[in-house]
Amino acid sequence: MKKLRVLCLAHEDLVPPDAVENGHSFHHEPWRTEQYVLSTLRKIGHEAIVTGVRSDLEAIRTAVVDFKPDIIFNLLEEFHDRPLYDQNVVSFLELIPVPYTGCNPRGMVLARDKALTRKILSYHRIPGPDFVIFRKGRKVKRPAKLSLPLFVKSQVEEASLGISQASVVENDADLIERVKFMHEKFHTDVIAEEYIEGRELYVGIFGDERLTVLPIWELLFNNMPVNKPRIATRRVKWDAKYQEKHGITSGPAQDISPELKTKIESICKRTYRALGISGYARIDLRLKPSGEVYVIEANPNPEIAKEEDFSDSAAKFGWSYEDLIGRIISQGMNRR
Ligand SMILES: Nc1ncnc2c1ncn2[C@@H]1O[C@H](COP(=O)(O)OP(=O)(O)O)[C@@H](O)[C@H]1O
Ligand SMILES: [Mg+2]
Repeated sequence: MKKLRVLCLAHEDLVPPDAVENGHSFHHEPWRTEQYVLSTLRKIGHEAIVTGVRSDLEAIRTAVVDFKPDIIFNLLEEFHDRPLYDQNVVSFLELIPVPYTGCNPRGMVLARDKALTRKILSYHRIPGPDFVIFRKGRKVKRPAKLSLPLFVKSQVEEASLGISQASVVENDADLIERVKFMHEKFHTDVIAEEYIEGRELYVGIFGDERLTVLPIWELLFNNMPVNKPRIATRRVKWDAKYQEKHGITSGPAQDISPELKTKIESICKRTYRALGISGYARIDLRLKPSGEVYVIEANPNPEIAKEEDFSDSAAKFGWSYEDLIGRIISQGMNRR
């Protein structure tokens, strides 16, 4: 591929320091994703720089005017300290307009709202848990057709914010209490879903018109006490000590029959298309012991650091990290 000028957009606090020495390990730094992407872009022959953004669109415009990028590599996950605003920055990129990597604004809006996602998927008959929405300030009453246990979460938060073992509620009193807690703590509407007991699967999808489904990945709870729900809580996702204690690991999902694999791949592709996602995404699923598959959510622009689920599953598929980053760039360029 021709040498391109690539402008990476990263959160101001996640701009890697200038001199990351050769061979210096940065895998545990908060800015590792940004550094992996930058150094890989350079390694595959592009001219790459990074601009830090917090709450100033002018920083993006200035970098575009000064650097004249061929493409923007979007690594922003929030704006103005609000994760919800990442979608608005992508709208701005459309308006500048410079080609950019990853998902378009509409796909980000639809996938971010868990209730909207459910409504769209249910229209397309893509299987997901039954659900009810509890608006802030309204009375919490469980519809008779929705049976316990339920899973309570924010309609728009990510990264398992507000998700703990207490998110699974077994009775109406606990439901009311948890919904109230979520309303007060996160100031968002709350969604309560049928609790799907089973395996936790992640599927990476890559593409715009033609989609590539990466190998099915599974989150394993090797030493989790049997009486505890096996769900990706905040601590399961982010607390290294907790992960070690409970044997939380991930890897290629084992014992998936060819028929089930085909079914999961089809569900994931349909989800990606129904939500109008482009670029790359990770679909979160639950698999019941009966073989029933439920889409939990779609994540456009998922984590792409080295040695994370998405890049590991791409590697298993045969794409080196350089291939993955190179493909994300080509895809952004082709979309123009
Ligand atoms: N309906 C559900 N049934 C069972 N587990 C769920 C359900 N919804 C969410 N979870 C668990 O909570 C985790 C986080 O929920 P998710 O909707 O993916 O939110 P986030 O955007 O924070 O990742 C999931 O990975 C899964 O383990
Ligand atoms: Mg998730």
